[in-house]
Amino acid sequence: MLDKLIKKTLGELAKINSLEELQDLEVKILGRKGALTNHLRGIKDVPGEEKKAYGENANKAKKTLEEAFDQKKSELKEAALNSQLTTENFDLSEPGIKPEIGHIHPLSKVQWEVENIFSQMGFSIMDGPEVESEYYNFEGLNIPKHHPARDMQDTFFLDKEADKKHGRLVLRTHTSPVQIRTMEKYGAPLRIIIPGRVFRYEATDASHDTTFDQVEGMLIDKDISLSHLKGILQEFLTRLFQKEVKVRLRPGYFPFVEPGLEVDFSCLLCGGEGCRVCKNTGWLEFMGAGMIHKNVLKAGGVDPKKYQGWAFGFGLTRLVMMRYGIDDIRLLKSADPRFLTQF
Ligand code: PHE
Repeated sequence: MLDKLIKKTLGELAKINSLEELQDLEVKILGRKGALTNHLRGIKDVPGEEKKAYGENANKAKKTLEEAFDQKKSELKEAALNSQLTTENFDLSEPGIKPEIGHIHPLSKVQWEVENIFSQMGFSIMDGPEVESEYYNFEGLNIPKHHPARDMQDTFFLDKEADKKHGRLVLRTHTSPVQIRTMEKYGAPLRIIIPGRVFRYEATDASHDTTFDQVEGMLIDKDISLSHLKGILQEFLTRLFQKEVKVRLRPGYFPFVEPGLEVDFSCLLCGGEGCRVCKNTGWLEFMGAGMIHKNVLKAGGVDPKKYQGWAFGFGLTRLVMMRYGIDDIRLLKSADPRFLTQF
């Protein structure tokens, strides 16, 4: 009885050539009231000692048929697809519709590269508030109230006080305040970079804007010297530009470092020979740096007798402009698609 059912079903299956017919047959055999299902139900009338063999055979038959139905189903589907491809005029050589995808802003792109390189060298990435207090932006960094160094960075003040100790609120003029915030929070040793937006009250032109991006770096540990700084920077720039870059240190002044430095790197275009880009000097100005002033370590709660370290701050915006040959800083905030879609 079972063998006959299998044979008959397989015979009918072979003749089927549409998915609808296939489904009808499947219902007739394997459906709730299908022939095989009924047969399976018949087990209740079978004498005890025969039940086992009966059930096994019925289940084997069910499996055989299910496989046959599945097989047929995929054959029919494939045939349908093939006939669609041959009957509909399907031109494989026609260009596809390009999906509209957004663009990564060049500032983000370079920021991520910088973050990756420093992460690989064991630095963590920190963040801090753009609206700062006078304390973190100035006093904590060894720039007292009436120090002329405040004039170096024209500041946007908010008409509000943080509190008595921290003074007025300002839009941070550099990422250096996060040096102190990080020391306060994590103590020493530290190895961090701080990318972020900074603000200065500037007259805007092709190379100045009121908003730009910096990357601060700071390393605090025992027995740290400026040779570590030089080595790290040289490695960083060589990885970033994927060519050998040299670094030069010159004396410079910032109240929060002692000694303070200006850092240059060898011109990317001429490699140091002298050209139009480096104004024949062979060097490009890069950033400020130095050994962290002991007053700054103290402000962060780090003991200057036990630890020392260096810090640096460079303009990410300028790096991006150099990288892509962008000649007007204002383009970066312009949201102009003609500019942005080039990246
Ligand atoms: N904060 C300085 C600036 O914005 C840069 C700097 C950072 C200098 C750290 C020395 C050490 O100009």
